[in-house]
This record gives sequence, C-alpha cells and structure tokens, in this order.
Amino acid sequence: MTKTSSDLFAQFAERARPEIDAALDRYSQLDEGCPAKLREAIRHSLLAPGKRLRPMLVLMAAEACGARAEAAMPAAAAVEMIHAYSLVHDDLPAMDDDDLRRGRPTCHKAFGEAMAILAGDALLALAFETLAKLDSPPQVVAQCSAVLAEAAGACQLVGGQADDVEGGSTASNDTSSKEALARLESIHRRKTGAMISAAIRLGGLIAWADPLQEAALGRYGERLGLAFQITDDLLDVRGDEAALGKRARKDSRRGKLTFPGLLGVESSRRHAEELIDEAREALAPLGSSAGALEALARHVLDRNC
Ligand code: IPE
Ligand code: IPE
Ligand code: MG
Ligand code: MG
Ligand code: MG
Repeated sequence: MTKTSSDLFAQFAERARPEIDAALDRYSQLDEGCPAKLREAIRHSLLAPGKRLRPMLVLMAAEACGARAEAAMPAAAAVEMIHAYSLVHDDLPAMDDDDLRRGRPTCHKAFGEAMAILAGDALLALAFETLAKLDSPPQVVAQCSAVLAEAAGACQLVGGQADDVEGGSTASNDTSSKEALARLESIHRRKTGAMISAAIRLGGLIAWADPLQEAALGRYGERLGLAFQITDDLLDVRGDEAALGKRARKDSRRGKLTFPGLLGVESSRRHAEELIDEAREALAPLGSSAGALEALARHVLDRNC
C-alpha cells in the first residue's frame, strides 16, 4: 500500500468511526419495552469494536457522488445492524460455533443461545426502522429499503449462509474443481459480497448518483465484496487471533469450502489482488472524489483484521 493511500483511509476512518459509533449507540438505546437482557445482548454485539467497513462504504460512496456523509448515516447504521445480526447468528453453535468475536465472547456465550437468536432478530428489524429515518424523498427511502432487504435476504446473504453451512458436503470428490470454484464464488458473493455491494449502492442512491456513477459503484462493489471474503478466508489460515478478535484456523477443521482450501494461499492472494485492481479501475469515472473508496480497496488487501 502506498503511504498516501493508507493515510487517506486512516484519515477517513478517524473522522467517520466516532460518528458511526455515536449513531449506532443512539439508534440502539431502545425504550422500556425492550427487556434489559435483550438490550444488553443487542448492544454487546452491535457496539463491539468491529472495523465498521460497511458503514464507511455507505458514507464514502455518498460523498463520492456529492452528498454529505451525515445525510447517509441512518443507512450506514442500518447496514452495520444487519452485519452485526449476521455475525451473531453466524457464530451460533448450529452454524460456525464460535466463542470469540470482535475480541469479546460471542453473543450466545455471553447471553445464552435463545437471547442471541433474539438479539439477531431484533437487529434485523432495527436496521429497517433506522433506515426509515433517512431524510430523503420517500422514493429514495423505498429504493434503499428494497436494496437492503434484497441483499440481506434468501437469495443473497441468507442464501449464501445456507449454502455455506452445507457447502463442504456438496463440493465433494465427484465435483470438478471448476464447479467447486464456481460454487465457492457464488457462496462468497452472496453471503458477504451482497451486503458490501448494497452498502455502496445505498450511498449512491442517497446522493442521487447518475447512471454512470451508479455503474461504476456497482462494478467496484462487486469486485470488492468477493475480494473481502477471499481475504477473510486467507486470514483464517494466516491471521493472528489477537489482531482478528476471533478464532483462526477453524475453516478447514469445519470442512468449509474456502479459497485457500481450493486454490492454495498464493493463488487466492493473487485472485484477491486482481479483483482489487479491477475494483480500483472501476472507480475511474468518479475521478478524485473516489479517493477514499480507492484507499479502502487497497486497505482490504493489506488488512490484518
Ligand atoms: C466478518 O466481517 C464477516 C465476514 C463477512 C467475512 P468483518 O471482517 O467486516 O467483521 P467486523 O465487522 O470488522 O467485526
Ligand atoms: C460470515 O462468513 C459471513 C456472514 C456473517 C454473513 P465467515 O463465517 O467466514 O465469517 P467469520 O470468519 O466467522 O467472521
Ligand atoms: Mg460462517
Ligand atoms: Mg463464521
Ligand atoms: Mg471467515
């Protein structure tokens, strides 16, 4: 990573993170109707120190297309709420069975399985309640809701997770490596790529992106989303638990279909690099206003958590 690009990402993160965290805190206060233990479980997972890459993408895309970041904050918070819910459920014993997340005990370890399931359910609903706070014309809010619901739904995030939990068994010996690769790409694009693409699209919608800008953001998001999950797979093989704040070296033990498992570490790394190059090239029509998005793409490749 060039110094300028890493500085640009760090600069954006330094400005945006406290604002994102304050918004998440504000939107998850919840009133007396919410049982104390449920509120605690929701906030334990939502306010834990994640990287906040998805909300940053919403804000960056909005700014790249000429809107103020504050205008997109409800959408940024909504995306992070869906992401947090997906992590709570991903960690459950019935799914990946993990005990550590964002450097904290996973939600079900801290609050029990039933409360973790319910905290996830509540976060999913809270996301749409929060998105509705956007101060945009009704047709923009409706479009944003549709984009978010689709990305979080049965054909994208949830569908990808469903195939992920069954993925190992279907990609067995009788599956050719080409088919296995296509299946793996499809899982990664849905379980992770879709929400990353949606975050970027929401920023564009809020900023009334023109068709050229929208297409550029679409191409960027699609490449970045897949590259992000490839680097997640690589970090499971090579990463450091303390930096990651989650367990490493679990994917192969669980029989997960992953990029390093299928292509090896070096080819996976090269594939992620190619995708990030393409993501950066896709930003050309946006000119210098896309500097932060470009810096984030480079950061994804070099991340250690
Ligand atoms: C982890 O996402 C789950 C995946 C989709 C790979 P992140 O690596 O963005 O996790 P946080 O939000 O920083 O905890
Ligand atoms: C998680 O993928 C994807 C979603 C939560 C939608 P992983 O299972 O690889 O994420 P980590 O490694 O547990 O963070
Ligand atoms: Mg998983
Ligand atoms: Mg997992
Ligand atoms: Mg993983």
